[in-house]
Amino acid sequence: MKRDFVFRRNWGERLPRISHGSGPYLHSADGRTYLDAVGGIYVVNLGYGVASIAEAMAKQAREIAFVYGGNFETDAENDLAAAIIDLAPAGFEKVYFTSGGSEANEVAFKIARKYQMLGGQAERWRILGRWQSYHGATMATLSAGGKVSRRREYRPYMLDFPRVTPPDPYRCPEGLSLQAYGRQCADEVERRILQEDPASLAAVIVEPITGAGSGAIAPPPGYMERLREICDRFDLLLIADEVITGFGRTGKPFASQHFDMVPDIIPFGKGVSSGYAPLGGVVIHQRVIDRFDKSAATGVFTGYTYSGHAVSCAAGLEVMRVLKANRLVDKVAGDGDDLLAAAKDRLKQPIVGDVRGKGLLLAVEFVADSKKKQPFPTSTRIQQKVVAAALKRDILVRGETGAFDGELGDHILLAPPFICEKPVLSDMLDRLADAIDEVSKARR
Ligand SMILES: Cc1ncc(COP(=O)(O)O)c(C=O)c1O
Repeated sequence: MKRDFVFRRNWGERLPRISHGSGPYLHSADGRTYLDAVGGIYVVNLGYGVASIAEAMAKQAREIAFVYGGNFETDAENDLAAAIIDLAPAGFEKVYFTSGGSEANEVAFKIARKYQMLGGQAERWRILGRWQSYHGATMATLSAGGKVSRRREYRPYMLDFPRVTPPDPYRCPEGLSLQAYGRQCADEVERRILQEDPASLAAVIVEPITGAGSGAIAPPPGYMERLREICDRFDLLLIADEVITGFGRTGKPFASQHFDMVPDIIPFGKGVSSGYAPLGGVVIHQRVIDRFDKSAATGVFTGYTYSGHAVSCAAGLEVMRVLKANRLVDKVAGDGDDLLAAAKDRLKQPIVGDVRGKGLLLAVEFVADSKKKQPFPTSTRIQQKVVAAALKRDILVRGETGAFDGELGDHILLAPPFICEKPVLSDMLDRLADAIDEVSKARR
C-alpha cells in the first residue's frame, strides 16, 4: 500500500479505498461491495453515481464556477434559494448559503445575535441548547451541543451556553402520559431560561428530531409547540437544526413540519447536495427578516469565501429537481413507516432496548437490561461490535454512544438513500438483524 500523507481522523488506521458508487452501493478498489445503510453520514439521500447531478455541476463549472459573493450574484445561487423556499414551511423567505452544517449553525447564532442587537438588546448573545445534541464541530457549535465526548477536549474554548435535558419518550417515567412528560420537559426549558436570565439569551437551538447524539428521537406530543410559546414569551429565536433531517429525511420536506409550530431559522446541510458538493445554509423566517428590513443594518456581518459557491448550488438545484420529480419525500414517508414496523418486528434480540425513528431516519438503542432500560458500560463497546458485525456482512451503519446521558448509551443509526427499493431495504434489515444476533448471542 502507498505511503499515506493524509492526517486522518481514524489515527493510525488504513481504510478501504472506494473506487466508485452506484445507488445505495459503494464499491471498493479491492472488489468489495458495501450496502450503505446510512448514506455516508446521513448525506447521500439520492444515492451514489447520479449522472444528472454530475452533469449539472460540470455545466456550471464550465460556465462559471466561482464568484465572490460580496461582488456578484449567480443564477445558480438564486435558483437554489428559490427552490429551497418553495420546499420550506410557509413564511420562510430568505436563504444564506454556507459550505456545511457547522457553518450553518454558526450563521444561525450570528443572525440571532444580530436580531437581538437590532431590537436594542445588545446583551443577549447566549444560545440555549440541549444535552446529547450535536450541532457541529466548530467551537460555537460544540458549545451549544451536548455530546459530552466531543466537547471534552475543547472545554477551555467552550462558550458559556446553558443546556437542558431533551425529552426521550423511551424513558418516559412510568405512570406519566407522553403529553405530560413533554410538558415537563418543556417546563424545564422555561425554568432554565429564568435561572440563566432571559436577558442574556438570544436563541434556543434544538434538533426537532434528533440525529447522531441520541438517535432519531421524536419529542412527545406538544413539546415543540410549547417550546415555541416559551421562545415567543421571552423573545428568543427558535433555531431548528435540520442538518440531518432537512430535505425529506423524515418523510416531510423539513422535520419541523411534523409539529404545529414554525421555527425562526432552519440550518441545513448534508442532504441538500446529497454529498455531491460541500453545501449548507440557513432558511430564515420573514419575522426575522422584518427586523433587518426595518433597521439601518447594512449586512449580516459574516461571509465565507465559498458561501453560495456556484457548483455546489448547481448540485443542490439538481437534487431539488430529482426530489420533486420522483416524489421522493412521499416515498420516504411510506417506506419509513414500513421499515420501522419491520425493524420493530425483526429486532427483538435481548440487547435491543428501543427501535425508533421517523421516515428513513431510524435508530436502534442497545441496553444491558431491557426492563430497567439500563445502558451498557462504555467498556462493553456494544455499538462498535454491532457496527463491526454489520461490516462483516458488507452493510454500513453508524454507531454512536451517549444516547442515555451524553456519555453512556449505545445506538446505531440507519439513514438509507431515498432511492432504495423495498427489496434493498429488506436485505438491509436482514443483514442488520443477523449482525445484532451475532453480538447478542456472544453476550449470553
Ligand atoms: C444535527 C447536526 N447539525 C450540524 C452538524 C454539522 O454539520 P457538518 O458536519 O456538515 O459541519 C451535524 C453533523 O453531523 C449534525 O448532525
